[in-house]
Amino acid sequence: WTAPALALLIGYLLGSIPFGIILTRLGGAGDLRSIGSGNIGATNVLRTGRKGLAAATLLLDLLKGAGAVLLVAHLWPGEGPLAGVGAFVGHCYPVWLRFRGGKGVATLMGIVVALHWPVGLVYAVVWLGLLATIRISAVAGMAAAISAPLAAALFGRFDLVLMLLALALLVIWKHGENIERLLDGTEPRIGRGRGRDV
Ligand code: G3P
Repeated sequence: WTAPALALLIGYLLGSIPFGIILTRLGGAGDLRSIGSGNIGATNVLRTGRKGLAAATLLLDLLKGAGAVLLVAHLWPGEGPLAGVGAFVGHCYPVWLRFRGGKGVATLMGIVVALHWPVGLVYAVVWLGLLATIRISAVAGMAAAISAPLAAALFGRFDLVLMLLALALLVIWKHGENIERLLDGTEPRIGRGRGRDV
């Protein structure tokens, strides 16, 4: 049981690093918790007006997911998926933030890229495609998360389907407030200009 337990723990510790909060604080962009949705992810960092910090948050949240999977798979081949679960849970429920973490979209992308890159490619296309067209981050993120178990089944990676389905359901669960705003028609769009806010 040592390898699975360590895989979960290493994944959790890496996933629980709140890069959004750290970068906005270091960048002097204020307290992310009191800005926009209050979320710790890249979308909310973008609402500080600091595109560079948002891009760095996206990249680092993605890398911690991929890094956890790759590091653990290197140490204990076969334990990569468990490290991914740990990293996802660490991002969404970090002990350092009294378990009030993010919504998992970027970290999950890193995890799926590392587990089976074609699934990661589908995830990225769905996510970026919807971001570019409808420009609602929550919708793009939830759709991308749901695409992961479907793509895993399509590529014959049935060993990953249940795990990715569970994580996708958690992503949707974490978007409860976004779903309420979507139903109210008050969910903000990414970017500025006509019909857009942040
Ligand atoms: O990845 C989080 C995104 O889907 C929604 O973020 O800040 O709009 O709630 P936010």
